[in-house]
Amino acid sequence: MPETTDRGARRLAFGGDYNPEQWPQSVWEEDVRLMREAGVTMVSLGIFSWALLEPEPGVHDFGWLDRILDLLHENGVRADLGTPTVSPPAWFYRAHPDALPVTREGVRFAFGSRAAICHSNPAYREAAARITTALARRYAGHPALAMWHVHNEYGVPVSACWCDTCAAHFRRWLGDRYGTVEAVNDAWGTAFWGLAYRSLDEIDPPRLTPTAGNPAHQLDYRRFADDTLRENFRAERDILHRLAPGIPVTTNFMTALSQCDTVDYWAWGREVDLVTNDHYLITDGRRTHVNLAMAADLTRSVAGGAPWLLLEHSTSGVSWQPRNPAKSPGEMARNSLAHVARGSEGAMFFQWRQSRKGAEKFHSAMLPHAGTDSRVWREVVELGASVASLASVRGTRTVPDAAMLWDWQSWWAQTLEWRPSEDHDARERADAFYETLYDRHLTVDFAHPEADLSRYPLVVVPALYLASEETGRNLRAYAEGGGTLVVSYFSGIVDEHDAVHPGAYPGVLRDVLGLTVEEWSPLGEGETVGITGPGGASLTGDVWSEFVVPRGAETVWTYADGPAAGRPAVTRHRIGDGTAWYVSTRLDAPALDTVLGAAFEDAGIDPRGELPRDVELVRREGDGGTHLFAVNHTGHDAKVPLEAPGTELLTGERADGHLAVPAGTVRVVRLDDRGGPGSGLGA
Ligand code: GLA
Ligand code: ZN
Repeated sequence: MPETTDRGARRLAFGGDYNPEQWPQSVWEEDVRLMREAGVTMVSLGIFSWALLEPEPGVHDFGWLDRILDLLHENGVRADLGTPTVSPPAWFYRAHPDALPVTREGVRFAFGSRAAICHSNPAYREAAARITTALARRYAGHPALAMWHVHNEYGVPVSACWCDTCAAHFRRWLGDRYGTVEAVNDAWGTAFWGLAYRSLDEIDPPRLTPTAGNPAHQLDYRRFADDTLRENFRAERDILHRLAPGIPVTTNFMTALSQCDTVDYWAWGREVDLVTNDHYLITDGRRTHVNLAMAADLTRSVAGGAPWLLLEHSTSGVSWQPRNPAKSPGEMARNSLAHVARGSEGAMFFQWRQSRKGAEKFHSAMLPHAGTDSRVWREVVELGASVASLASVRGTRTVPDAAMLWDWQSWWAQTLEWRPSEDHDARERADAFYETLYDRHLTVDFAHPEADLSRYPLVVVPALYLASEETGRNLRAYAEGGGTLVVSYFSGIVDEHDAVHPGAYPGVLRDVLGLTVEEWSPLGEGETVGITGPGGASLTGDVWSEFVVPRGAETVWTYADGPAAGRPAVTRHRIGDGTAWYVSTRLDAPALDTVLGAAFEDAGIDPRGELPRDVELVRREGDGGTHLFAVNHTGHDAKVPLEAPGTELLTGERADGHLAVPAGTVRVVRLDDRGGPGSGLGA
């Protein structure tokens, strides 16, 4: 029965992308009947419907969307209504072929897929504003409307365009940012290789060059491209805010570091009313649930710790990898509820009904080709009930144990040409540090390097090559104030223009780490170095070594061999009331765990060693109560200690002392309200 007509969903969201335009209207009745059976509360609609909504330039056909929205409303399903601006119609491109984007190599993409857009193109901008305005006018008051879904996944698959329109737009952007061409020349270091410009008019996008291009030029182009996408998001958002006040506006992010690296989500998180994210499991031999947890933690952090919403994931296999395995029984629910544990206000999928035609017909869906007599459908119905039982989670916040610094711009800088070693990979370092903390059952917030870190007992810094002076001051103040910092090599080296900070490495982090680095000596392919530490223990590093000179820091681990034999490998600096560790080689996760173990002691963190590997424990706290999520990714039943008694929400059973978490399942305990803080995980 309808239960969402108040426009404020009282439940966690459950549903998916709904593309009814693929199906005759006779199917729609079955869709809504099955949505009710599965407990669907919301669908994302109209994301790719421009060609249907505006079949001729300026001529709108809203009839089908009216009918489907009414039908959804009658069945208690709310709409996350798309602006279809990621998929302009064929007629638009016939009139404006220059709205198709151009690659760095100078090739213009063709119509025939989606997201082929030059975001600087004025005709595109006008057309997008017109269709957005028309939709907002028509549906602002529709009772099914829950929120607006602008565009789709800005930044993929096209992150930037190198056409002449973009070139002109880039020059304007440079003018706004730098004022004069002299300032650009100075920031970019164009004195090197004779790249000086006499006027902004001489500057082009960093198109294909015979050898390494100017790094600052390339870095600014990434910023420009990201800003340009955000200009277009803001333009649509402002129209929607004006014409449909009170309806939240979102656009679906893809925060997983393996899935979209082209936009700066710190900046995007500030622009949306609600952060939403899409997450897909990548089959690359690694532990997918760790990657999922990391993406969810990053999404929550981009939302400033506030609840967010998982807008897309898959019920089973995807269709765009070389090999696309089906999810195992129970895996979908574990994925969904692991996102909820880390702050999502529900679990949504791509897509509701599996397509028969088009590019994604082999991508799994809530209602698969196999129909309702299928494992996927039965698990979807079961998950719908589980999600419904978690209503008290709404509005609560995930509680972090530690923070990891992350900055997309620093990552961009580390992927530019001609670095000390092509084996160094900033993302790989972030993954390794995250995995180490995950395996200690610590919940991680990500933080911008200039953010206030004082609430965290431990802050790890995987590879922060590009770091501002403000970052240096921030990290020093954090450590002096009693924090424990762990910094990995190749951090603190350059400023925002990729210019090396004056003096010895590691630039802005010299003081806080109490050391300098005279020279790097990256290792050969497959080469390893031994390091020895407390009690004669030994560990192995690879990829990187360097010549560290302690200047206040103590040496805890020493290189046993390799180019830096006899020199410090891992150091510890007491500074103010805190401690700053430095790790100068690439350690794998077990070795990192050994080194981080000592930092946990400095930080006073109890890393829950008694819990089994691959059993996640995450807390959400707030007005709805304290919720403890236990996700068992293993094939064995597990037991989790409880500090306070509570009710397990998925089974309705009471839990006291210990919580049983059967193999492959999730359990969520709402701890009894004891009238104060402090209830929770047993020591
Ligand atoms: C992305 C898109 C969806 C769909 C899914 C699955 O997340 O937003 O439209 O293509 O991937 O492939
Ligand atoms: Zn362009």
